[in-house]
Amino acid sequence: MQSFKPSPGIYEHIIGLRVVRTYRQEPIDAAQIERILEAGRWTGSSKNIQPWAFIVLTDPGERQRLAECGSFTGPLIGAPLVVAIVRLPEGGDFDIGRAAQNMMEAAAALGIGSCPVTLHREPCAKERLNVPDDHGCRFAVAFGYPDLEGEGELRKGIRSTLPQGRKPLTDLVHYGHFGAQR
Ligand SMILES: Cc1cc2nc3c(=O)[nH]c(=O)nc-3n(C[C@H](O)[C@H](O)[C@H](O)COP(=O)(O)O)c2cc1C
Repeated sequence: MQSFKPSPGIYEHIIGLRVVRTYRQEPIDAAQIERILEAGRWTGSSKNIQPWAFIVLTDPGERQRLAECGSFTGPLIGAPLVVAIVRLPEGGDFDIGRAAQNMMEAAAALGIGSCPVTLHREPCAKERLNVPDDHGCRFAVAFGYPDLEGEGELRKGIRSTLPQGRKPLTDLVHYGHFGAQR
């Protein structure tokens, strides 16, 4: 159980998390992989059902084959580690998103960058990963030690296609009912 002592460093860590899509070609060792998966395992879920399974892919051929199941899957090809998240029949995407974010935050604490990736063609992903019919598999997370130079270059290109930064709180927060500002 967390101590609940004030931890300003953790706050900065959470709000500072940005995706990384370019990685150094340096493997992530088994102990670090286990720590990332352990963070996923400890995620809370509705009724504590834990409606997920994690498929670990380190082989370049396997990562390439999964990358063919989505439209913006470059990170899956370049990352030394990919974790595909399987949603069990009783689970929802809220649970899956929490598990993904927990693993991403834990990875960042270990110096490892990450990027969630959508598997737009879910039947393709399920077939390639041998996922049962009544399970889902629409998201994977790419992990790797950041290649900061490559990331800077990539971001210059992405800047024109994706919104940057975040909307201000005044655009997001409503008080008491939708549309009410302070
Ligand atoms: C549900 C979800 C799906 C995403 N799918 C992709 C994807 O398919 N390919 C990709 O490169 N990034 C993907 N991303 C990453 C987003 O583009 C990224 O979170 C967003 O641009 C904010 O990036 P930043 O935190 O670095 O500012 C996805 C993120 C989420 C939450």
